Amino acid sequence: MKTIIFATGNKDKMREIREILGGYGAEILSMREAGIISDPDENGKTFEENALIKASAVHEKLPEQYKDAVVLADDSGLVVDAMDGMPGVLSARWMGRDTSYHVKNAQIIENLKDVPVEKRTARFVDAIAAVLPDGTEKTVRGVIEGRIGYEERGENGFGYDPIFMLPDMSVSTAELPPEEKNRISHRGRALRAMAAELFGEQG
Ligand code: IMP
Repeated sequence: MKTIIFATGNKDKMREIREILGGYGAEILSMREAGIISDPDENGKTFEENALIKASAVHEKLPEQYKDAVVLADDSGLVVDAMDGMPGVLSARWMGRDTSYHVKNAQIIENLKDVPVEKRTARFVDAIAAVLPDGTEKTVRGVIEGRIGYEERGENGFGYDPIFMLPDMSVSTAELPPEEKNRISHRGRALRAMAAELFGEQG
């Protein structure tokens, strides 16, 4: 059985990763479960560069028992066109890591207060990097297009989900049941693309 170690400390991401990759018969561990502590500087300019920084840092620290594990890492964020692509690769750090998303979401709504619906376009992007046991690197990317809403809506998901509306403005990704979000989300798309690379189309 393949062991996959996911280089994240984010519990929300781990939950979505297990929901999506659970069906492929691999053992999925967070880096903490594998006994690895890693927090490299995410100083890349692109989502792909940052995902590779995180995956490589964990690959280099693999303990002997996990030398054959595939290390995955993702880097994701919200790209708002009316904010010149911000918060983008800075999504987790924007306005400070400890600032609540309620405050961050309110700030984005405020920034866009005079922006008409057709210019409120935004997307969630997720790049996933894999470092294979022999050091080979792969990256894939998943995207979901949407628009910034006028208020927070919904209780599911996390982060910027309550203000991220589907393009027709009908629902936010925080209003979708988890299976539905995973089916269409940037992370769902990127994880399935990576699963196809690692396990083949059939899983
Ligand atoms: P990182 O990939 O850990 O650097 O952080 C990505 C950040 O982007 C998260 O902390 C959230 O702020 C945001 N983000 C990424 N994916 C999602 C999502 O599915 N919903 C809401 N916010 C997200």
